[in-house]
Amino acid sequence: MPYTLNVNGRSTTVDVPGDMPLLWVIRDVLNLKGTKFGCGIGQCGACTVHLRGRAVRSCQTPVSAAANVPITTLEGLSADGTHPLQVAWQEIDVPQCGYCQAGQIMSAAALLATNARPTNADIDRAMTGNVCRCGTYLRIREAIHKAAATLPRAPQTARAAAE
Ligand code: FES
Ligand code: FES
Repeated sequence: MPYTLNVNGRSTTVDVPGDMPLLWVIRDVLNLKGTKFGCGIGQCGACTVHLRGRAVRSCQTPVSAAANVPITTLEGLSADGTHPLQVAWQEIDVPQCGYCQAGQIMSAAALLATNARPTNADIDRAMTGNVCRCGTYLRIREAIHKAAATLPRAPQTARAAAE
């Protein structure tokens, strides 16, 4: 059955079964390889993408649930790799093997979209579903703080800081 997907700002139609995981469609039909297949059972976070701006596990999301809503993959985070998280990731040299990192960045981006000054606890809570077998968690946390420092401070956050 045809589904209209809005991926990284582009509308496209795919003719696939409705229960096909969005991950399969992204990687194998749309040929966007930034999103990784890790566990396939919702346990590792390597396949994280944004659906309506929220981080979701694309291996657990049927394509039918993703039709006609904005989907963002790593490729859509910025046109040229200059999203603050991508810059911070490079500056801190976060990845080791790199396999989990696309999912880590996507979860971090969803966090910063709603919380421009996350605490360590906020970060740990938001990132808890993203597993890194290489143990880069401390560098991930540092990179999120570094990226957050470049973002405009939300008015209520600035007020709270002044109190
Ligand atoms: S591949 Fe989706 S959570 Fe692991
Ligand atoms: S960098 Fe290797 S799994 Fe995270």
